Amino acid sequence: MAVQKGGTGKTTLAASLAVAAAETGESVVAFDLDPQGSLAGWGALRRKNGIVVDRIQAWEIGQLPEILDGASESGATIALVDTAGTATGATPALSAADLVLVPVRPSRLDLVAARPTLQTLVGLGMRSRLALVLNQCPPPPSARTEAYAAQLRALGVLAEPGIVQRVDHQDAVAAGLGVTEYAPLGQAAGEIRALWDWIATKMSA
Ligand SMILES: Nc1ncnc2c1ncn2[C@@H]1O[C@H](COP(=O)(O)OP(=O)(O)O)[C@@H](O)[C@H]1O
Ligand SMILES: [Mg+2]
Repeated sequence: MAVQKGGTGKTTLAASLAVAAAETGESVVAFDLDPQGSLAGWGALRRKNGIVVDRIQAWEIGQLPEILDGASESGATIALVDTAGTATGATPALSAADLVLVPVRPSRLDLVAARPTLQTLVGLGMRSRLALVLNQCPPPPSARTEAYAAQLRALGVLAEPGIVQRVDHQDAVAAGLGVTEYAPLGQAAGEIRALWDWIATKMSA
């Protein structure tokens, strides 16, 4: 999860996608690279186990490939890496990724703010390994959201479905849960499961 702008939903999506992945049988480790430690805080709140959440300090980011190898040797099948809302120092995390998810709200300011991250990824030769996630979307139908989605889809860089702004996401994180654990039958849970399916399909391709 990477984009310079804060508040677009990197940590929120990381938490729920980690859980959704585990629910499909993956063995998930989540690494928190953000000095703010929000994802690690979520991990500490969890009463349910099943997901290992670990903090990576700024000076360890260069060792991320070795850390990922270690996780793999310990049986992890998915490593989900949450990064800080700044670009500084995150490049080793980007280049180590099979897929970089870039959450953006469907607004021009968010899309413009994503540009440096996207340019870095393209510069790393990762054009086919990035996907934007439209997050905190207004309740559908929204002509504006659809217009952004259509443009990104045409460029082949849209992860689907978009994730609507729903209080379940906030309540789930506050409870140390993924949204599929917090409200399994809710629409937020359905969207997150579908997004994980999209990601899994993309990564296996
Ligand atoms: N889909 C969503 N629905 C409702 N609230 C959301 C959603 N995604 C994120 N939020 C809220 O937006 C704020 C920023 O999210 P966060 O995950 O901390 O972003 P980032 O990690 O990119 O800084 C938080 O208050 C979070 O609860
Ligand atoms: Mg965050």
